[in-house]
Amino acid sequence: MATRRIGVIINGATGRMGTTQHMANLLAIAGEGGLPLHNGDRLVPELLLVGRDEERISALAAAHGGLRWTANLDEALAGAEAIFMDCAATGDRPARVRAAIAAGKHIHIEKPTAPTVEEAMALARAASAKGLKHGVIQDKLFLPGFAKLLFVKNAGFLGRILSIRVDAGSWVFDGTVQPGQRPSWNYKKAEGGGLALDMMAHWRYMIDRLAAPVTAVSALMATAIPERVDEHGNRYIVDVEDTSHALLQLQGGAVGIISNTWATRVRREDTMVVQIDGTLGSATASRHRCFTQAAVNTPEAFFGGARPGGMNFMEQWQEVPDTLPVTNPFRQCWERFLRHVAEDAPYLPTLVEGAKAVQLADLAYRSVAERRWVDVPELTL
Ligand SMILES: NC(=O)c1ccc[n+]([C@@H]2O[C@H](COP(=O)([O-])OP(=O)(O)OC[C@H]3O[C@@H](n4cnc5c(N)ncnc54)[C@H](O)[C@@H]3O)[C@@H](O)[C@H]2O)c1
Repeated sequence: MATRRIGVIINGATGRMGTTQHMANLLAIAGEGGLPLHNGDRLVPELLLVGRDEERISALAAAHGGLRWTANLDEALAGAEAIFMDCAATGDRPARVRAAIAAGKHIHIEKPTAPTVEEAMALARAASAKGLKHGVIQDKLFLPGFAKLLFVKNAGFLGRILSIRVDAGSWVFDGTVQPGQRPSWNYKKAEGGGLALDMMAHWRYMIDRLAAPVTAVSALMATAIPERVDEHGNRYIVDVEDTSHALLQLQGGAVGIISNTWATRVRREDTMVVQIDGTLGSATASRHRCFTQAAVNTPEAFFGGARPGGMNFMEQWQEVPDTLPVTNPFRQCWERFLRHVAEDAPYLPTLVEGAKAVQLADLAYRSVAERRWVDVPELTL
């Protein structure tokens, strides 16, 4: 039993995801003495934090036990670290990833991997050609509610899947009366903004695995709030969509519906709710909970619900219990990727999967521009 160390560069460490997810979860693994590998060794991540602002990045490093840091990405890439995580703002990600590939680093990055499917596939091909391990963060199916939904589907409870519906979003303040809760780059095309680019990255893998692979898309997008106030109190024009609705065709004939906006007020179980209807049963999940209704438990809701006093539809569903321990979804992504690098364990969300996610956004934008249905071709390395 040996202790092995593996260097991880976190580029964008001072950002929301960088600090609260990637740094925090890797530090948690290290704090427990490392990730136990199958041969009994322990793999201890050693972090090198990278950020553009020396003061902020050095303060973050100091606050977490004196971690190594630099404000120079080239310097970080010239070092001996094995893995490069890019969780800086989305804009310019391909250039940063290309530099990391050239430096021979294994690549594990946030979504979306690139602004277009061509660039996303170019990254996947470049990393593969160099024999590097590569992956994208796909955390949502590790959230307890959606993990249960996947379990329900895989158990065969739903029968033939007829439809999957994603209802997602919440109200993002415009910065005038209250500060916006999303960074302003989310609303600027040049900085990698746009709700479809951001969120299709999740819907693609969720729908592919929870229901069936997506084969065609027809989308409608809008900019509900065209002017906002940024982190410094400056007004700016929003030049991307903050609302994206899409109809999908799925392999095998099922229908997908995505309704997603940062301009809606939440009156449902959670900010993300996914319902799947099948011939043998239905299931609905939020981030933390999942409920099912079997065909044999399905009430007659149309006339039954219309009677005085009606029916409480919410009470007609049965909750899927907690049977597995809840582990932070980003930690699960990291544990799998670390095993992929250290002991060649399989890793499903490679950069090809990352490109598939970008592809759905790409084709949704094309559907809007050309006002038509667009087929989703298969992507291969
Ligand atoms: N997997 C998920 O569920 C999830 C959730 C939120 C965000 N994200 C992704 O994570 C990334 C970061 O999002 P966030 O919400 O943490 O944003 P954020 O704005 O909080 O953090 C981004 C960080 O990147 C830095 N930065 C900006 N431009 C940079 C550049 N050119 N080079 C280096 N650093 C730069 C910023 O200073 C900031 O520290 C995005 O790509 C986003 O799509 C993923």
